Amino acid sequence: MRSSPFFIAFTLLLIALLPSVQPHAPINAHFKSHSPFSSALETLQKQLGYTFKKIDLLRRAMTHASFSEENNKALAVLGGTLIETAVSFKLLSKDIDVSASELNKMISRVSNVDTSCAVDGTRLNLHKVLRVAPKTNASAPSVVCGVFRAIFGAIAIDTASSDDAGSVFWSLHGDLVGNALAM
Ligand SMILES: *[C@@H]1O[C@H](CO)[C@@H](O)[C@H](O)[C@H]1NC(C)=O
Repeated sequence: MRSSPFFIAFTLLLIALLPSVQPHAPINAHFKSHSPFSSALETLQKQLGYTFKKIDLLRRAMTHASFSEENNKALAVLGGTLIETAVSFKLLSKDIDVSASELNKMISRVSNVDTSCAVDGTRLNLHKVLRVAPKTNASAPSVVCGVFRAIFGAIAIDTASSDDAGSVFWSLHGDLVGNALAM
């Protein structure tokens, strides 16, 4: 007797939840095939060689702060540090005697808005996919760098690990350390 109100509440909860859970997939699938933004995200994932488990993370990475409150700013901060970590890790793995100043030089080079991340980001056409407010220039180097970095932040959150983000970064930007070491 004592448990019956709980049972009723639990049953009602299940009834309330089930219909909202089940139609989810078909709705998303429908949305995916019809929104230009969603199909651009599909293409982008192919370019990245990485498929998101939670596509909402890529959606957020491709959304500028001028467009909505749910945006890529914090993901870009994480992504920036991941790129720096990936560069430090690779450089030190190749040459444990690398000097701190050499390492810092390389980190600033890869973080440079005008020469590195905006170039990588533009090559991926991120400016064409990014959602921005009408007055924001999606091609501005700082904006492109923000999106480029946010992608790695999003991958790290998606996999709960920084390793995959680093691998994707190198697959897109593999020649960097080799070229720099050759200089
Ligand atoms: C947007 O930024 C790009 C890259 O800096 C620049 O070439 C372009 O002229 C800018 N467009 C506008 C409308 O300001």
